[in-house]
Amino acid sequence: MCGITGIITKDDHSIKEDLLKTLKRLEYRGYDSVGFATNDGFFKKSTLPISDFINSVDSDLRSNISISHTRWATHGGVNENNAHPHFDKTQKVFCAHNGIIENFNDLKEELEDEGYSFKTETDSEIITNFFHKGMVKEGKSFEIIAKEFIKKVKGTFAILLIIGDGRLYALKRDSPLALGITEKGFILASDIYSFSNKTDKAIFFGDDEFAIIDKDKYAFFDKDGKNIDKEITSFEWSVEEEKLDEYPHYMIKEIKEQPITSRRLIESLKRDQANRLKEFENLIKDSKRVVFVASGTSYHASLVGVHLLNKQGIESHAVIASEFENFYLVDDKTLILAVSQSGETMDVVTVIKKARKNGAKIASIVNVPYSTIQRHSDTSIEILAGQEVCVASTKAFTNQLIALFSIARSFGYDNNLENIPDRIKETLDINEEIIKELAQKLYEKNDMFILGKGATYPIAREIALKLKEIPYVHAEGMMAGELKHGTIALIEDGTPVFCLVPGKNLEMLSSAKEVESRGAKTIIIGNKEGIEPDILLPESDEKEFSIYSSLIGHLLSYYIGVLRGVNIDKPRNLAKSVTVH
Ligand code: M6R
Repeated sequence: MCGITGIITKDDHSIKEDLLKTLKRLEYRGYDSVGFATNDGFFKKSTLPISDFINSVDSDLRSNISISHTRWATHGGVNENNAHPHFDKTQKVFCAHNGIIENFNDLKEELEDEGYSFKTETDSEIITNFFHKGMVKEGKSFEIIAKEFIKKVKGTFAILLIIGDGRLYALKRDSPLALGITEKGFILASDIYSFSNKTDKAIFFGDDEFAIIDKDKYAFFDKDGKNIDKEITSFEWSVEEEKLDEYPHYMIKEIKEQPITSRRLIESLKRDQANRLKEFENLIKDSKRVVFVASGTSYHASLVGVHLLNKQGIESHAVIASEFENFYLVDDKTLILAVSQSGETMDVVTVIKKARKNGAKIASIVNVPYSTIQRHSDTSIEILAGQEVCVASTKAFTNQLIALFSIARSFGYDNNLENIPDRIKETLDINEEIIKELAQKLYEKNDMFILGKGATYPIAREIALKLKEIPYVHAEGMMAGELKHGTIALIEDGTPVFCLVPGKNLEMLSSAKEVESRGAKTIIIGNKEGIEPDILLPESDEKEFSIYSSLIGHLLSYYIGVLRGVNIDKPRNLAKSVTVH
């Protein structure tokens, strides 16, 4: 995973203000460690949180070329030694790498035979020695060594390299990389958001392309070393950088923003994005089946999408992106519908690239504009949730559901979405204190179950994911009807079981009774006073109920997390955007 950024300027730039504050905006890609290096060989690395690291850097430190890296560890533990940038033993070649070099062991052996040594456990360290051997030891040009690198290396990479010669070098395959053109020079980064406060002009690297960047010019090359012209994209970045304001954590801020963010999307789908909705409708009509592809929370939204479209008679499936090729075949009658908050999830990107080769059309629902997934789509709806800082997805999930409801409406799903923002507010206002009390009772429990059916089955899974991800509770979200086929054996005296009961769903109520009679402590989340739910949601149909019940899960995960004293916005071992396989 990881985020990388590099700057080359005519005059010196500030490491703290320019390089590292740009890198801070890539923290969503990983926060295990952080580091930077300058053209004259100065470097600093740390496992401190990135804000603390930035504070530790001297304000006077300047350079005209610098690179930096924020890490999500893949190969090698989380420690300063494994932090990037990596360098060869003469400290001449420095590199920041996002991706995985799959054949690093073979390359390492070859380099060791040539006398090179390694001091980290990472796959990335081979890059510095590879380029040191070619460019420094053998005196060959970057073009020659980059071509060789692209040919020999298996895996994914976005790489920034400095070798102290007044240039910045970059290479890319699968992992994203963009070049921003500023008045003072050039800035390279994993996404354009990170430099959107410095320029509105960018060039996106294609796969197996590389570039040489001088302080006043750049040149791009394809894998054969042929010089290529690249299109400059002018972009508008209207999403503002999030601030905590009066909130203790981004998670609760983002949960509470939803009356506003949901309304923003509903209005946009009626006006600014009405044409995109129409494009979705046409693509679905022209296809034989819709196949959702997504990961994590976005996969749960996709499951709701399958339910909605199937109910309207449209054949739909949802496949978890990382297992797609093991479980699904795609042809030119398939519409791939990619759902992703970040628009950068590598497993999803891989699926859409392969599906495109098989003739499938691609539609996407993303939160981040200009993201890789959006750029590879035939059409794309932006969910306009605003920047989501907390690793746990909350407001984006709700807006993914609203986008899916709107698509289903084009095919006859009869529901007025206008009420949703007020009902979200009502759900939060009425239930926040109740959830706080419930969290007090439950926060020491290590196992919980959430049962759903139909449109609420994906929500049961979504609530379970949030309980795992934030307070580290082992939770299982499942189809109520499947419980008796094994999982019920885990129910003991006092095991908390949440039952999602829209209306007077008798099957759900029976499932609740079945676990209760085995000692479970059931918590009924419902919307009809008649069944006396423990948590009462606004009146709505079963599908819309999925939005309000997920809010309860998000609040509960948050308040249990607070009581458990965990790092709410940056849970252990995670990153906001999963950009490796
Ligand atoms: O950016 P994406 O929606 O593609 O991300 C997919 C998952 O990594 C993401 O939803 C993850 O499960 C969240 N941390 C859940 O809160």
